[in-house]
Amino acid sequence: MNDDGRIMLRFLDAGESHGRGMVTIVEGLPHGLSLRAERVESELARRRLGHGRGARMRLEADRVEILSGVRAGKTLGSPLSLLVRNVEYEKWQDIMSVEGEKTIAPMTAPRPGHADLAGAMKYGTHDLRDVLERASARETVARVCVGAVCKALLGEVGITVCSHVLEVGGEKAEAGGVFPTLEEVMRADDDEMRCLDRGASRRMVRAVDAAREEGDSLGGVFEVVAFGLPAGLGSHAHWDRRLDARLAAAVMSIQAVKGVEIGDGFEAARKRGSQAFDVIEHEPARGFYRLSNHAGGIEGGMSNGEPLVLRAAMKPIPTTARPRDTVDIVSKEKVKATVERADVCAVPAAAIVAESSVAFVLAQALIEKTGGDSMYEIRERFGELETRQAGF
Ligand SMILES: Cc1cc2nc3c(=O)[nH]c(=O)nc-3n(C[C@H](O)[C@H](O)[C@H](O)COP(=O)(O)O)c2cc1C
Repeated sequence: MNDDGRIMLRFLDAGESHGRGMVTIVEGLPHGLSLRAERVESELARRRLGHGRGARMRLEADRVEILSGVRAGKTLGSPLSLLVRNVEYEKWQDIMSVEGEKTIAPMTAPRPGHADLAGAMKYGTHDLRDVLERASARETVARVCVGAVCKALLGEVGITVCSHVLEVGGEKAEAGGVFPTLEEVMRADDDEMRCLDRGASRRMVRAVDAAREEGDSLGGVFEVVAFGLPAGLGSHAHWDRRLDARLAAAVMSIQAVKGVEIGDGFEAARKRGSQAFDVIEHEPARGFYRLSNHAGGIEGGMSNGEPLVLRAAMKPIPTTARPRDTVDIVSKEKVKATVERADVCAVPAAAIVAESSVAFVLAQALIEKTGGDSMYEIRERFGELETRQAGF
């Protein structure tokens, strides 16, 4: 944050699931960051990964149009705006057209586990589509666009954000007590569940297939890891500057995420103090480091120089192929809920979205730490920070 507490890097997004497209504006980027639409598109393609996705993921890939903020492949320091058109819009024009009257019957059977009923009551509408179109996880397209830009920025100073799946439908990956390396986590995309334990991945695939067979769905747990962080991103000084709090809010805001933990998280509550903290060591060539990483790279609301480790729990997809019982909001009769679209499991994809949310918060915290209007200044100041911390 700057002197008056204003966030230096921010974004806004707009767009309905079956509307014309998703618009994202990122404000506060430095000048001189290399950026091409293909880079953002390759992150969007990762958002479609994972065994258990529904029909929409088989549609034509999302294309990105950069509308402003970039010239000759480099950011200008002015607001970046991105547009991802909805390839399905033609088919949905009658239902989602901006002008004219509504020509189809309103949706009145709220889906349990979705924003439908609470949103309709809040906004006073008796057409659930007015709510569900924006509540949909299609909005994560925008977060992945922002994440791609932030990852490019972080990459310039050697920070990498990646993720892998730990658990789906109760099938767990075995860590074997060894924390994965950057190279290992970067290979997660090679596996159809984005899981580093091939045996567990096969069991997860079988669990997804069985759930699909039964018209059901699955949730799970994923882990986001960031390597290459300096000490001192975020701050202990005020609640809303704490990095852990900001990361938790960013990841918790992803549709269907119901829990976020950092480091040992809930497991720490079951340990004694003597087993739950990380011993500090120092070597002249390495500077300060920890012998373990129970803290998940954050102490006192600040990065401590160890890898950031964040896990999140995703509930099972609420819409299942077998329609759920509900109550019509107009007739008040018992009816079956609409099946709008149904992934059986989206844990591998949610992990990619969470990478993006984490990358955004880290890029914000980095810019707050280094300041700088240009990539040149950020790189230079980051170099100074590293030298100072190595000799601390
Ligand atoms: C990547 C991703 C894909 C999702 N796909 C679906 C889906 O196909 N069908 C569905 O009912 N919910 C899906 N969800 C979850 C819903 O969007 C979410 O549960 C719903 O909006 C209610 O929000 P809440 O669970 O946070 O309360 C998905 C979520 C994510 C992150």
